[in-house]
Amino acid sequence: RASSSSEKETKKRAKEEEEVPPSVLGPSHATIHSSSVEKETIEVVTDDPREQLKRYQEKYRYSIRHPGAFWAELAYENYSWENRDEFFKHNEHNERENFDARKGDVNVEFFKGAKTNIAYNCLDRNIEKGLGDAPAIIFESDEGFEREKRCETLTYLELKEKSDKLANHLIYVCNVKPGDVVVCYLPMIPEVVVTMMACARIGAVHNVVFAGYSAEALAKRIIDSEAKVLVSAAMSYRGGKAIELFKIVAEAEKICEIQGHRIEERVCHFNLPGSEPHTDWPKEKAEILAAYKQRHGGNEMSPAWTDAPHGIMRPYYGLCLLESFDLALDEQESRPPPVTIWRDAEDPAFILYTSGSTGAPKGVVHVIGGYMVHVGETMKEAFNVKAGDVTFCTADVGWITGHSYLVYGPLLNGCTSILYEGKPDYPNASRLWEICDKYRAKVLYTAPTVIRSLKKQGDEWVTKTKRDSLEILGTVGEPIGESAWTWFHDVVGEGKLPIVDTWWQTETGGHVILSLPNVGEQKPGRCGLPFYGCIPAILDPQTGKELDGPNVEGLLALKPPALPGMFRDIYKNHERYVKSYFQEIDGYYVSGDGARRDEDGQYYITGRVDDVINCSGHRIGTAEVENALARNVFVTEAAVVGIPSEIKGQELFAFCSLREDIQFLKEKAELKSSKYTPEQLIVRDLMDTCAKEIGSFAKPTGGILLLQPGTGIPKTRSGKLVRRVLRKIAKGDLTGDFGDLSAVANPESIQCIIQAKKKAN
Ligand code: WT7
Repeated sequence: RASSSSEKETKKRAKEEEEVPPSVLGPSHATIHSSSVEKETIEVVTDDPREQLKRYQEKYRYSIRHPGAFWAELAYENYSWENRDEFFKHNEHNERENFDARKGDVNVEFFKGAKTNIAYNCLDRNIEKGLGDAPAIIFESDEGFEREKRCETLTYLELKEKSDKLANHLIYVCNVKPGDVVVCYLPMIPEVVVTMMACARIGAVHNVVFAGYSAEALAKRIIDSEAKVLVSAAMSYRGGKAIELFKIVAEAEKICEIQGHRIEERVCHFNLPGSEPHTDWPKEKAEILAAYKQRHGGNEMSPAWTDAPHGIMRPYYGLCLLESFDLALDEQESRPPPVTIWRDAEDPAFILYTSGSTGAPKGVVHVIGGYMVHVGETMKEAFNVKAGDVTFCTADVGWITGHSYLVYGPLLNGCTSILYEGKPDYPNASRLWEICDKYRAKVLYTAPTVIRSLKKQGDEWVTKTKRDSLEILGTVGEPIGESAWTWFHDVVGEGKLPIVDTWWQTETGGHVILSLPNVGEQKPGRCGLPFYGCIPAILDPQTGKELDGPNVEGLLALKPPALPGMFRDIYKNHERYVKSYFQEIDGYYVSGDGARRDEDGQYYITGRVDDVINCSGHRIGTAEVENALARNVFVTEAAVVGIPSEIKGQELFAFCSLREDIQFLKEKAELKSSKYTPEQLIVRDLMDTCAKEIGSFAKPTGGILLLQPGTGIPKTRSGKLVRRVLRKIAKGDLTGDFGDLSAVANPESIQCIIQAKKKAN
């Protein structure tokens, strides 16, 4: 392990400091100009950006010269640790990292030996400061669903009480021990925060699975993370629709069981509508009791549940079949709060699955201490927040943005976080702005895909709202591009608010490159400058060599020092961790994105350069969708590429080789329909397959091209799909000019596919 605390390393750092790319030094002045036609210079709202830039540069230089000290100071000052004084007094430079597999194991380490608890830092620390009665979470539900026991806000104290109760349930009923993985399949309801806090309190590792994933995808993540406990909800509501999550959960459990993995305990939050129960739910008490008894080896249901005040007769249907539910939590009422488990800073905090360019999804492992400090500090710097501020992050909690800037970041800073259950444009396109007005949000953090779709609906939806509480507009997830940026800035922000673009990834845990408010020139579409303590690099895609200076474009990479929030591993697959991120180009973390650095040292992200597709901010691995499609009975082989989409950024387009000739398939009974052609039926079936294997968001909405058997899909001699060509065809470029095809093993397939595409058009 390479220790950066050694003198040599310090010297190297000092030397590196002189070599800080001139890029980060930026211009000596900075102005914010509106991107509207007049290009007028606008008075800066808060502070002089020139001063701000200078301050940034000084702090940045210090941070990369003394990363250990820089982060330790923040960790010591702003967070609670069980052994705070002893640890930080003696371990000023306590970070280690090695990005170069040739020099030993690739690893990142911060504050090892310091003991902390992230739930304590999110809740107790704020309560001690007098924020107990301040709202921690404001829940804004989807329209049209009146729910029983639905809370609108949770204060810091209430969030602690609720999560303590669940923590006790996890300990005493579910037998969860520190280090155990708890899968959380939950929609955007306060219980998801309660559950994450409960896990963190007792040292359990949460694995939140986005509730838009299918049963198959959920099962895969349960099995891979070896989870024995599952927390879910009965229902989910979005855009005026109710989704029966409990059915998906039951199906996932079945799949797990078939594959030899048993979930031992589950907690199911109600989240039921107050209105009449669904017609196919069992309604009679006797019916429910009998079903329970049958499912539980003849055991009777606990009287604590059957005699509950609300009565089991309400739509508690399948919940009792899922064994455990909210009512059970009431049994924890009399127990004292659980003991906070102080864990090592380097112990795992959570696993979050994300897609890579190849193979199965990866369980990204984040640790407690580094993640906490990184996310807490980036939240503060990016959004200028202090305790009591209201922040609104529209990301789903099932993604890293939700984890870091909807849950942990705001709570670590004593903020009030708005948790919005529904869709940005339901019931109409004013929804987000109305929520900002209703709760006086200071920060709105959203995604380009949301901005583009709301832009399309017209300015009036925005201009009829006030938005006067907003001070910062943030964006994340994909390149924003000039036109969405300009609309966000000019219309939503009325030309007055800084746009904070933030580039980062599930792997980095928190922001990496961003436009800190009022630091440097606001240019449409720019992403910004590196956060403190990290050094981005642009690499030549051919040679892997680092391209110095301004005005260069290539692969976006990071070199040491590491940010404390960087992921530490891929769950149970350290080899994949090292191989897919650090070995492509020795000494660098290669991000998978392309970027350009301009003359001011600002970065512009150009998008993924690998086989990952960013569709409406959902990160989808082409391989995953290809595997799903190839499991469909009609298909032998599939290739998936991304095509540009006005709203979604990218959309999936699939090429599918059919198993049998379409003429033959037409004869098949199941393809006979008066309304649809066999081709349409197959396409629909393929769409369903993607939804079933992964989730609705993985449907190739850009199109599916069916290829007759024998057509083939262009591949290199080593069997790699020639996506460059497929991408062109998918986009409709059928000129046949595909550049050098000498590496293609079956070039004749290209003409066949072009013909098929022409015919389909
Ligand atoms: C990928 C990571 C990290 C938050 C949400 C997505 C793209 C992320 C930006 C941005 C351009 C961005 C990249 C990255 N991305 N932020 N500000 N500008 N592209 O997390 O699912 O892990 O996806 O999202 O392509 O690699 P994720």
